[in-house]
Amino acid sequence: MHITLCFEKLDPAPWVQGLQQAFPEAKVSAWAPGAPQADHAIVWAPPQQFIDEQRGLQALFNSGAGVDALLQLKLPPSLKVVRLDDAGMSVQMAEYVCHAVIRHFRELDGYDADTQVGKWSYRKPRSRADFAVGVMGLGVLGERVAQALRVFEFSVNGYSRSAKDLPGIRCFSGAQGLSGFLAASRVLVNLMPLTPETENILNQATLSQLPKGGYLINVARGKHLVEEDLIALIDSGHLAGATLDVFRTEPLPAEHLFWRHPKITVTPHTSARTLRDESIAQIVGKIQALQRGEPIKGVVDPQRGY
Ligand SMILES: NC(=O)c1ccc[n+]([C@@H]2O[C@H](COP(=O)([O-])OP(=O)(O)OC[C@H]3O[C@@H](n4cnc5c(N)ncnc54)[C@H](OP(=O)(O)O)[C@@H]3O)[C@@H](O)[C@H]2O)c1
Repeated sequence: MHITLCFEKLDPAPWVQGLQQAFPEAKVSAWAPGAPQADHAIVWAPPQQFIDEQRGLQALFNSGAGVDALLQLKLPPSLKVVRLDDAGMSVQMAEYVCHAVIRHFRELDGYDADTQVGKWSYRKPRSRADFAVGVMGLGVLGERVAQALRVFEFSVNGYSRSAKDLPGIRCFSGAQGLSGFLAASRVLVNLMPLTPETENILNQATLSQLPKGGYLINVARGKHLVEEDLIALIDSGHLAGATLDVFRTEPLPAEHLFWRHPKITVTPHTSARTLRDESIAQIVGKIQALQRGEPIKGVVDPQRGY
């Protein structure tokens, strides 16, 4: 068996080492143009040349959850594309989103500002009943986030393509469910995949359906959001602000207004990072399952786009 690795920026050496330990008999190597044909590949943002040269792959493992960039390439229709499912990401996403929701709900930015000027002052407690959180996308990450928010006794709404029935979550689905979901959600958390259907889905028409004082947390992809529509809705007072981890252009350009907007919190696409050891263990398990002829989880449906 030959496993090849092709990463845009990451050093492949520790991955090669980890996979070699799991498969001592296999050839494991970082890809370079003209390299021999491999049976399995682990990639992040590979060039088209990689796909064109490696035509005999049994499976292409993406070293992340989102496969939108990979699906932009011209892939052989029969190629099995496999995403990371969880591998330590969902708990990170739950931490990040719960922190952002609580920071907004408890007005901790306001207390920070008071601290800067040595001011001791209380804010009136807000009613949790007024802060239902809507999680848009109830997949591997979204469902974990929704359940984590329930621990803090927030009312949680969920939105997905297919209808779902999850304990403690008010579920909405499909195009016909979107308006009801938005109107019922004071805080909107985006955890949908980026597909032709979901690109620009956070725009004036949808975000203005959040209740007045609504708040956006975008942790999925920058291209979900029409950035100028968000700024206009915050500046008009309809939305209270946003926490953004992903952007149309990354790194976020130095001159971008988001850096300086007082009601927008920016983090550098860090809400749920790929953890190397967990990811290697998951991919090793899936390669072993494929070798035994067993089905594996996380196979991407190119028609759906996720
Ligand atoms: N910021 C970061 O650090 C970071 C890290 C990892 C991932 N991400 C992002 O997070 C996204 C979500 O990850 P995941 O692993 O939870 O994805 P997932 O398991 O593929 O789940 C996607 C969810 O979105 C729903 N959905 C898809 N298209 C829809 C549509 N047109 N309308 C309504 N709902 C739709 C799906 O509905 P069904 O359940 O009906 O299929 C599913 O519930 C990733 O795609 C990636 O972009 C970000």
